[in-house]
Amino acid sequence: MFGTKKQKTAINPGQVALVEHAQMRIAQKRRFHTHLLLSLFLIFFALILNFAFDYKAEFKPFNTHWSFALGSLLILILIVHFFKVFLFHSFMGKAWELEQMEFLLEKQAVKVEKLKRAMDKEAALKATAEWQRESQKQNITMIAAAAENDALGKDNQLIWHLSDDLKHFKNLTKGHHVLMGRKTFESMPKALPNRTNVVITRQKDYTAKDATVVHSLEAAIALAQEDERPFIIGGGEIYRQGLAYADCIELTRVHEDFEADTFFPKIDSAVWQEVWRENHDKDEKHKHAFSFIRYQKIKA
Ligand SMILES: NC(=O)c1ccc[n+]([C@@H]2O[C@H](COP(=O)([O-])OP(=O)(O)OC[C@H]3O[C@@H](n4cnc5c(N)ncnc54)[C@H](OP(=O)(O)O)[C@@H]3O)[C@@H](O)[C@H]2O)c1
Repeated sequence: MFGTKKQKTAINPGQVALVEHAQMRIAQKRRFHTHLLLSLFLIFFALILNFAFDYKAEFKPFNTHWSFALGSLLILILIVHFFKVFLFHSFMGKAWELEQMEFLLEKQAVKVEKLKRAMDKEAALKATAEWQRESQKQNITMIAAAAENDALGKDNQLIWHLSDDLKHFKNLTKGHHVLMGRKTFESMPKALPNRTNVVITRQKDYTAKDATVVHSLEAAIALAQEDERPFIIGGGEIYRQGLAYADCIELTRVHEDFEADTFFPKIDSAVWQEVWRENHDKDEKHKHAFSFIRYQKIKA
């Protein structure tokens, strides 16, 4: 056959296959031609024998069993050879195989391309959805005024009156949801105008004028889900729970210590980053110096 095993491995395997196939084809054709010649000779020989031993007036070349059987067998084998060499090869031979392979590879390439395009599209859609989620994410903000010692209020009342701080509060919260504890709601003369007031209480039968009553901070946040910036406005108990949900703190730091019974929770500098500050000195309208400070939660 075709060289030794060592030689075969030294040559490109594709070439080995081609040469082996060519050799196989030559052998097939040689067998066909040999068989053709042999058949012709044997049939001719059978005819001679017929003439010599069994001749009749009528010419019947295959009128005996043995010559008919021999002729049929030879023709059958000839047909098999013929099919092998000319038909099977052209329909299912190497060329046909290669053609099919190319066709399938082309089809496969189109499919792969389509799949890639679909995957790219899906990745783009995912990225867009992610971006939309990020950009539409609520900015839950806690807004408070706390003294240097974190004092918030005493006897359910605010401790100071700072008009610029009230304006600051109004400007920021206008048009938004304001989420508050029941005690803070009760500390105000009425619900805050131009805002959606949400009061949190554990009392199932609690009612509040011009406000929606819910029974947990989570329910309050859910209620405000359409608001891109809902505000948690206190008091101390609600601020403590709100730290976990808030993205931003708008803190008015009053630069003095005060006696109080309600306090703002400590702001952990590992979690909260100061991003903006505006200082205000005391003046005829403001008895205490204060600063507006904005903290953003540091993203993990
Ligand atoms: N300086 C500031 O910026 C500021 C802002 C706001 C308030 N404040 C002051 O803070 C004080 C009020 O604060 P506070 O801490 O005493 O009370 P609060 O936080 O306003 O309200 C507490 C009440 O909220 C309800 N609540 C709390 N957590 C709840 C939960 N997880 N589920 C259901 N209900 C819940 C309970 O109501 P029920 O008892 O009805 O169940 C609870 O008694 C006042 O002095 C006020 O003036 C100061």
